Amino acid sequence: MAIELNQIWEFPIKEFHPFPRALIGVGAHDILGVEAKKLGFKRSLLVTTGLRGSGIIEELKGKIEYQGVDVVLFDEVESNPKDYNVMDAAARYQAEKCDSIISIGGGSAHDAAKGARMVIAHDGRNINEFEGFAKSTNKEAPPHIAVSTTAGTGSETSWAYVITDTSDMDKPHKWVAFDELSICTLAIDDPLLYYSCPQHFTAFCGFDVLAHGSEPFVSRLDFAPSLGNALYAIELVAKNLREATFERNNLAARTGMMNAQYIAAQAFNSGGLGIIHSISHAVSAFFDSHHGLNNAIALPRVWEYNLPSRYEHYARIATALGVDTTGMTTVQAADAAVEEAIRLSKDVGIPDNFSQVKVSSYEKNQMNTGKYEGRGDTIPGDEKTVRAISEHIQDDWCTPGNPREVTVESMIPVVDHCINGSY
Ligand SMILES: [Fe+2]
Repeated sequence: MAIELNQIWEFPIKEFHPFPRALIGVGAHDILGVEAKKLGFKRSLLVTTGLRGSGIIEELKGKIEYQGVDVVLFDEVESNPKDYNVMDAAARYQAEKCDSIISIGGGSAHDAAKGARMVIAHDGRNINEFEGFAKSTNKEAPPHIAVSTTAGTGSETSWAYVITDTSDMDKPHKWVAFDELSICTLAIDDPLLYYSCPQHFTAFCGFDVLAHGSEPFVSRLDFAPSLGNALYAIELVAKNLREATFERNNLAARTGMMNAQYIAAQAFNSGGLGIIHSISHAVSAFFDSHHGLNNAIALPRVWEYNLPSRYEHYARIATALGVDTTGMTTVQAADAAVEEAIRLSKDVGIPDNFSQVKVSSYEKNQMNTGKYEGRGDTIPGDEKTVRAISEHIQDDWCTPGNPREVTVESMIPVVDHCINGSY
C-alpha cells in the first residue's frame, strides 16, 4: 500500500508569513494622524467597538483630522465580531466613499476591519466565504492602520482574523481565517493606550498572549523561527501580567505586556495555534464569551492534555514561567508548568471554569432562543453542550496544529473539565 509522504512527515516545508511595519512604544499613538497622512489616507473609516468612557476614540479622531484626513466613525463592532458587523462596516466604507481603514481597540475591532477589507476587495462577497487558509483571490485591499488598546490579540501584526458566522443560529460557528491580504499596513502598539484597559480585560487578554506563546511552541508545525519568540513572550507574561492587572499605571508592566502581545503574535503567525484556541472559538460561538477569558480557562486543561506528546517543550515552558526546575525530571518540570499557569490564572482572578461565566447578551444566541437545555445565567455544563463544543473543535482551523490528536471523544472530558471541573 502506498503511503503518502505527508502521512509520515507532517509539514515538511514551512511557510513564513510576513508582518506589517509597526510602531511600538510610548507616544506612538501621537503620530497616528501623521502616519495616516503619509500613507495617503484622505477619508478613513474608523472601526471600533466604541471604547466608550475611555476618551481614546475622541482623542485619536482629533489627531487624524488635524492632519486633514476625514474620519467616518463606525463604532458598531461587537465583542467576538459577527459577520453582520463586517458586512455593515464594508457597506459603510463604500457608501461613504472611504479610501482607507483605521481600527482602534483589541482583536474585535482589528478583526472586523480586516474582514471588511476582505469584503471590499472582493466586491461585497459574504465574509463567511473566507474561512480557512488564503481564500482571497484579489491582490489588493484598502490600506489599514491598526491601533491597539489591549495587550492580547496580536491581530494588528498577524495574518489571522476571527469572525462569528450567525447565518444559521442552529449551528453558530466562530471561524478563523489566515490570509496575507488581511495583513494591516501599519501596526501601532503604544502602552499608553493600554492604561485604560480594565483590570479583568487585562487579565483575560494576558492569557490570550500566553496561549499565543505556548501554542506555536508545542505546535506540530514546529516552525523554528517562532520558537524563541514564543518562549520569550511566555516569559514576559509571567513577569508582567500580575502587575499590569493590578497596578493600572505600572508603565514597565504595561510595556512588558504590550511587547509580549506583539512578540507572541509574531510566533503564532507562522508557527500555528492549537486547541486552546479551538475550544475558545467554540465557547464564543455558542455563548459569546470573551476570547481571552475562554483561553484562560482552557489553557491549563489543554496543556495537561498535550503533556504526553510534548513533555520536553512544557518543561522549557516551566522555566520561561519562572519555575526553578533544578533537580526535577522532565516530566516533573512539565507538570510544574501546568501548576504555574494555574497559579497565574488564580492570581489574576480567572474563574475556575465556564460554569462561573455569565452568558453575555448575544441576542441571536442559541441560549436565548431556548435551544439549549440547562440554560441559565451561566454557561451550562450538560452533556449536549459539552458535545456541541467538542464537535465545533473538530472543524476549527487551529486544531490541526495541536500536538496531540484530537477527536470528539477525546475532547469530551477536556471540555467537561473546562465547564464543570476545577483545580
Ligand atoms: Fe487568540
